[in-house]
Amino acid sequence: MKVAVLGAAGGIGQALALLLKTQLPAGSELSLYDIAPVTPGVAVDLSHIPTAVTVKGFAGEDPSPALVGADVVLISAGVARKPGMDRSDLFNINAGIVRNLVEKVAVVCPSALIGIITNPVNTTVAIAAEVLKKAGVYDKNRLFGVTTLDVIRSETFIAELKGLNVADVKVNVIGGHSGVTILPLLSQVEGVSFTDEEVAALTKRIQNAGTEVVEAKAGGGSATLSMGQAAFRFCMSLIRGLQGEANVVECAYIAGDSEYAPLFAQPVLLGKQGIEKILAVGELSAFEVQARDSMLDTLKADIQLGVDFVK
Ligand code: NAD
Ligand code: LMR
Repeated sequence: MKVAVLGAAGGIGQALALLLKTQLPAGSELSLYDIAPVTPGVAVDLSHIPTAVTVKGFAGEDPSPALVGADVVLISAGVARKPGMDRSDLFNINAGIVRNLVEKVAVVCPSALIGIITNPVNTTVAIAAEVLKKAGVYDKNRLFGVTTLDVIRSETFIAELKGLNVADVKVNVIGGHSGVTILPLLSQVEGVSFTDEEVAALTKRIQNAGTEVVEAKAGGGSATLSMGQAAFRFCMSLIRGLQGEANVVECAYIAGDSEYAPLFAQPVLLGKQGIEKILAVGELSAFEVQARDSMLDTLKADIQLGVDFVK
């Protein structure tokens, strides 16, 4: 397997690259690209870790050399939030970055699985889809917005609140990746019940967890380490699917058969071609139905912004 990380010298990129270097299957290749000149040095640094994963680093304007033969491409290139900003405030800079990178992916490794981390995810995934369509290589089963951070936060916060072993907590998070579009399905968590007050407070905390980190870092960026872990988990699931492992399921922001919006985060079964099957969202509580319906205008507007940007 060859995994390319674009934005690899950044906070997320370096954390993710470390996890991949230490835990990708033996014989894998890790390809690191960033505009920052330090990137080949990051690769040299990682290459001294004794695992059977080869690492190469690429800097400069053109990501193409890093993309040759990639099975999975993870994109975290771009700017991060500072206190007082919404994710949508990142659009002006990050939209063009994602468009340009995906244009290269479309040429060099059009059948790679692509995971978009760069915010605003609700919009950047739409941009990526339009770029791939324009290039004639779009496969909706191979493009993912990485929303795994919402899932791991939900697992962590539920386990903390209920005194559970976090390894036993499984939760789906649907919708998108900003504010009210993040909807954890707390009613479906097995073996746990919540009061109405707990549901309201926990949902709000999960929706605002990115802002919690941005404010705690006080101008020093947004979540990098937890996101590195989340992207690592998602990447490993993609690889396990590619390698033919059965029952690999993750939530991701995808172009499904959703009746709600053209892109919608929901559970998917992963396989050798990316998404093997889109899984049902399942039964929702009255609170969740209301939250789902009231997010849709925001989510659709975020998606349209991305579509219009490429057109
Ligand atoms: P960072 O500033 O630490 O790193 C970003 C990196 O991107 C830098 O190294 C920079 O040199 C590089 N870069 C900028 N333009 C580039 C280009 N054209 N080509 C290649 N590399 C380029 O930021 P970070 O904390 O790693 O966050 C990166 C992005 O991920 C942000 O947009 C942030 O909002 C987003 N994010 C998403 C999630 C999520 O859940 N999906 C979570 C956290 C952060
Ligand atoms: C997060 O959820 O932590 C990321 O989307 C970064 C941010 O800006 O909140």
